[in-house]
Amino acid sequence: MHLSDEERAMLSGREGPAVQKAMEIVAALGEIYEAERLVPVASVQVAGVSYGNLGEAGLDFLREWAGQGARVVVPTSLNPAGMDLEAWRELGVPEQYGQRQLEVIEAYRAMGVSISCSCTPYLAGNTPGFGQHIAWSESSAVSYANSVLGARTNREGGPSALAAAITGRTAEYGLHLEKNRVAHLIVEVTCALNSLSDFSALGYMVGRKAADRLPYFRLDSGLEPGSDELKALGAAMAASGAVALFHVEGVTPEARDLHMLADDAISITIESLDEGYEALDGTSQDIDLVWIGCPHASLAEIEHTADELHGRQLDSKLWVTTSRDVLSTARLEGSVDRIVASAGRVVADACLIGAPLHEMGITSVATNSSKGAFYLRSHTGVRVRFGSLAECVDAATRGRWPA
Ligand code: F3S
Repeated sequence: MHLSDEERAMLSGREGPAVQKAMEIVAALGEIYEAERLVPVASVQVAGVSYGNLGEAGLDFLREWAGQGARVVVPTSLNPAGMDLEAWRELGVPEQYGQRQLEVIEAYRAMGVSISCSCTPYLAGNTPGFGQHIAWSESSAVSYANSVLGARTNREGGPSALAAAITGRTAEYGLHLEKNRVAHLIVEVTCALNSLSDFSALGYMVGRKAADRLPYFRLDSGLEPGSDELKALGAAMAASGAVALFHVEGVTPEARDLHMLADDAISITIESLDEGYEALDGTSQDIDLVWIGCPHASLAEIEHTADELHGRQLDSKLWVTTSRDVLSTARLEGSVDRIVASAGRVVADACLIGAPLHEMGITSVATNSSKGAFYLRSHTGVRVRFGSLAECVDAATRGRWPA
């Protein structure tokens, strides 16, 4: 792999041990994946923030790198933490977990990372342009950036994203190269897609079937997919499979203007979403918490939740997770007050995967996100229901899943 003089200097340690370590990671990935060169990145998004996922070993790793003088050189944002960084005590997060989570945040702050704590940075000011090289690590954000924005990123791990932020570079392989962005799986969807949870269930099913093929969707009927629907679709495929890029005919930028379908693509047809709903939905009747906002909610999703509540009082908890940026705008627009008036919460910074749910007395969660349902099951051990926003809000008002 070709390295410039400046990159060689970084690798030799001339810019200090923190930069040397970062360049070692970036260059090693380039060698493994047979990249010809490194490319500059316009922005970085770093996962590996929740203390519940990182643990002490992860916290020590970050502190050590920060202590060696690691500093990011391009705009770098953070994935969600395991709690709302301001309201965590009010929400019942245990003191020890909360303090440790704040130490993780301080390590990132010391490196110059923006404490944005969101998996939808593209809704909060970090919106890469078409064709730009970036190094993002949250799988749903990677999918959105590649597919909906037409930016170029592989699915980075937490340390490799941070290494890209410190060097300002990533190795040019995988989805950074146009030839690897061509779809090999046509997905003909003949059933109607009428809600976010429908797009989410579809994504779950296709993610499991896609293997290493990039999907190219043809949608027959139902909602014209907008930003929120594409966000839900991509997040689900990235969770149930390893899909980091998809195209929707006539909708996503590379399927609108370019020919991104391989001549030897195979085809599958999806006639019903039952398989997706059945795989993710459980049998629990009692619901402790309803979770909307996985990936982090847009303004429209917060507003739709408030509309669905329509002033009804809650019997269980209802949290809408979002970025602090979107929360501020939703406050100004009044939808946060409408949710709070029903005794719900709009929670910033947080993802429930990695949050101390059991210590907070939460053992059953309902969500309209198949990614949320999938990871709640596999990572937290709580009981899960998966359904539409209307069903989830209804469950929150009764404390029970609707019959
Ligand atoms: Fe975001 Fe957590 Fe869902 S990182 S996509 S809210 S699992």
